[in-house]
Amino acid sequence: MLETDARDRMIVAIDCGRERALELADALSGHATWLKVGMTLFYAEGPAIVDEFRKRGFKVFLDLKLHDIPHQVRGAAEAAARTGADLLTIHGLGAGAMMAAAREGVEAAAVDGGRAKVIAVTVLTSMDEEALAQIGLTCSAAEEADRLAALAQANGIDGVVCSPQEAAHMRELLGEDALVVTPGVRPVGAALGDQSRVATPSEAIARGASHIVVGRPVTGANDPVAAFDAIVAELVENL
Ligand code: C5P
Repeated sequence: MLETDARDRMIVAIDCGRERALELADALSGHATWLKVGMTLFYAEGPAIVDEFRKRGFKVFLDLKLHDIPHQVRGAAEAAARTGADLLTIHGLGAGAMMAAAREGVEAAAVDGGRAKVIAVTVLTSMDEEALAQIGLTCSAAEEADRLAALAQANGIDGVVCSPQEAAHMRELLGEDALVVTPGVRPVGAALGDQSRVATPSEAIARGASHIVVGRPVTGANDPVAAFDAIVAELVENL
């Protein structure tokens, strides 16, 4: 893999407060292409944080996992896309009409024909079969994920978020153009933290991930830029 491709396919999750977030953004500028803003940072700082990252030249993955009635999700997706974010998340469990509404929302916010992409969370990786049974779902997590991924695609959604373990299957199910974004990625030797079913960056991409999300192995390193560049080197060497 070319070095520029490797940089474009890594998304650094910035899960911290504003000051540290901007410090990391300044350090990673010119190295990383993508930063991810999650609910904690967005609810504290609002659209301004997306703007701060964009001003530094980053693409932004705004991971707010929208899930509400279609009318609300349409408006939320439009507003989220107007922040300038390039990629948004919704919950597949909101069903077809809600997912179609998210697509309409980002289309309404399109600039010069370019719109934000939307990907669906199928089954949260924190949910096991017992948790699914609690909410009345008696099928396996894998079956549920397949059903929601297909429904997402049928409603104009651009891809899915899934674990690296599911990436090959999702790629097969959704075809080569779909976005398949995998968190739960750990370079060899990195601390697992609270992640369990992990894969290395090159394993995740080899299995079909279009993008990998890496947080603490980069943001918690003594030298985040060196940690980021080491993952780029791993991808270039192995793929
Ligand atoms: O620090 P770490 O590399 O574990 O960060 C992974 C990022 O991906 C976090 O922002 C986390 O919220 C997100 N994520 C995840 N597992 C999922 C969905 C999202 O770890 N199933």
